[in-house]
Amino acid sequence: VIELVGTIRERMQTLRCSGKRIGFVPTMGALHEGHLQLLRASAQENDVTVCSIFVNPTQFNNPDDYKLYPRTMEQDIALLESVGCDILFAPHAEEVYVQQPLLQFSFGPLETVMEGEHRPGHFNGVATIVGKLFHFVQPHRAYFGQKDLQQVAIVKQLVQTLSFDVELVRYPTIREADGLAMSSRNKRLDPEQRQIAPVLHHALQLAKEQLGQKPVYSIKATVEAYLAGTGQVELEYFEVADPDTLQPLQEVGPQQEVALCIAAFVGSVRLIDNILVNLN
Ligand code: PAJ
Repeated sequence: VIELVGTIRERMQTLRCSGKRIGFVPTMGALHEGHLQLLRASAQENDVTVCSIFVNPTQFNNPDDYKLYPRTMEQDIALLESVGCDILFAPHAEEVYVQQPLLQFSFGPLETVMEGEHRPGHFNGVATIVGKLFHFVQPHRAYFGQKDLQQVAIVKQLVQTLSFDVELVRYPTIREADGLAMSSRNKRLDPEQRQIAPVLHHALQLAKEQLGQKPVYSIKATVEAYLAGTGQVELEYFEVADPDTLQPLQEVGPQQEVALCIAAFVGSVRLIDNILVNLN
């Protein structure tokens, strides 16, 4: 477990110089099976696997969400050992952010939709921390989950724009048996909310069945009505989007790949999910 930036820099430099391939999984902790699958993939495909745990203050647009974000470090360390992670980097906010960053990223149309639109400043914070972590860890490969599809697109653009020498790997979403996408925030659902939460995934499945049969506006209305019918879920958005640009599609044609993306509140907990559908 390494906490200091100077120490991780030195260690990674040594490992790189001795020819080791370095895989990296950045996280905010409260690890679950979704994170663990990324770590297993990294352990299999690289000589050394580094995980970072840092609840990054600059990417939270809601102060309560930051305060209430689950922190389970001891349990996380045991899980990391069980999946063959070699190094945990868990830095302190005071060292990561010696001063409040003023640099503003712009990701163009990517940040004006969905998560970008509804969480102002979120992707600026994500890009800032991911850039810093890439500098500290200097990985050859970095693993990200499809669960945060728009985040993958943002990081891809960050890597291209700033020429980071990192190969990105997108890993499929890991789900609970009832379809709920695993998320650290699921820990904040009470038992009743936990029972209702899989409706996000059900709504995506419902939309998938209608894709190509009904117009997009009608699919959206179906999803809205379905979630309203639960009485306990407040839909923030449901979009049919291009899987690369994440721009909303008004129509879908045959042979097209689309991303179905959803964000909704279950009580005070905000959850997101998406599926990729190939129409053929
Ligand atoms: P966090 O939410 O902890 O997620 C860490 C990584 O695990 C992300 O790449 C995320 O997409 C992936 N992940 C989460 N749930 C998953 C699931 N059910 N299946 C597959 N992968 C899943 O995303 C972040 O942290 C932060 O924004 C971070 C990139 C660390 C920057 O602070």
